[in-house]
Amino acid sequence: MAPATKRDLLSIADIEAELPGLLVRAHEMKMARRRGDPSGSRPGTNLAMIFEKSSTRTRTSFEVAMNDLGGHALFLGARDLQLGRGETIADTARVLSRYVDAIAYRAHRATDMAELARWASVPVINALDDREHPCQIVADLLTLYELWDGHFAGRTFVYVGDGNNVCASLVLGCALVGLDFVGAVPAAYRPPEAIRTRAEGYARVRGSRIRFVESPAEAAAEADILYTDVWVSMGDEAQAESRLRDFAGYVLNEELLARARPGCRVMHDLPAHRGLEITDAVMDGPQSIVFDQAENRLHAQKAILEMLLPVRGR
Ligand code: CP
Ligand code: NVA
Repeated sequence: MAPATKRDLLSIADIEAELPGLLVRAHEMKMARRRGDPSGSRPGTNLAMIFEKSSTRTRTSFEVAMNDLGGHALFLGARDLQLGRGETIADTARVLSRYVDAIAYRAHRATDMAELARWASVPVINALDDREHPCQIVADLLTLYELWDGHFAGRTFVYVGDGNNVCASLVLGCALVGLDFVGAVPAAYRPPEAIRTRAEGYARVRGSRIRFVESPAEAAAEADILYTDVWVSMGDEAQAESRLRDFAGYVLNEELLARARPGCRVMHDLPAHRGLEITDAVMDGPQSIVFDQAENRLHAQKAILEMLLPVRGR
């Protein structure tokens, strides 16, 4: 069942070469679906989806994407698997690889993600871990590709808030497409240095810039996009109190948006905690594109799955 060599998508950096083509294909698939042609290009394929954490968008969009491609998705809550009773990740990976063509995994720890990928003989797709959320960022870049007709250069993407998994994949993803990135993130919450260094390397080659600052107001002045995410990610609940205190000055509200460049759009990967990191007025306002982003999870994932799944006869 497994191909001779397999590809994993654990970090958005794993698709450095494919990313531009993936955005084109995802947009094509979106248009085709709107015309009533859902593609069906991967019939007879199966995707296992192991979720250790909650999900609305990722789970549903993977399942619908597999259906559109003519394949099948199996949702496996980690607590229902023997994994929850101590079976190893390695054994789980080896067994599932005998049944399915790819595994999407939402993990608490990036180390578990790497372990599953090490032992699986089929592609493993990171459906979020504590380090990155690459599928989200493919959808986000698809949204911007559509907004700007594929022209990323010369625009500035501003991220405000926690330097979490989403921020880490965003800084890499923006660098990969040549977008200037400014992170308004408190110093103690910036993404890991290895990720920032890698992103700076991509940006140098593409002639774009990466910067982290403390002040949301300073960052917003350059913004063509203002993006935020939750202050307390899944797994960070024990630090909720200190996080709410540390991020109190990082709210994406009308005052911050008023500082941005004219035509600035607002993004959030969702779920949003309305009234904390983003206000209702901004999230529901005319500059918000959050639901286009959410829709694009489906189209982006279809292109990702098409890239990774084998082609079978009908
Ligand atoms: N944005 C995102 O990954 O949402 P879910 O947690 O609902 O999948
Ligand atoms: N940073 C958030 C993203 C949720 C989609 C989390 O990890 O909980």
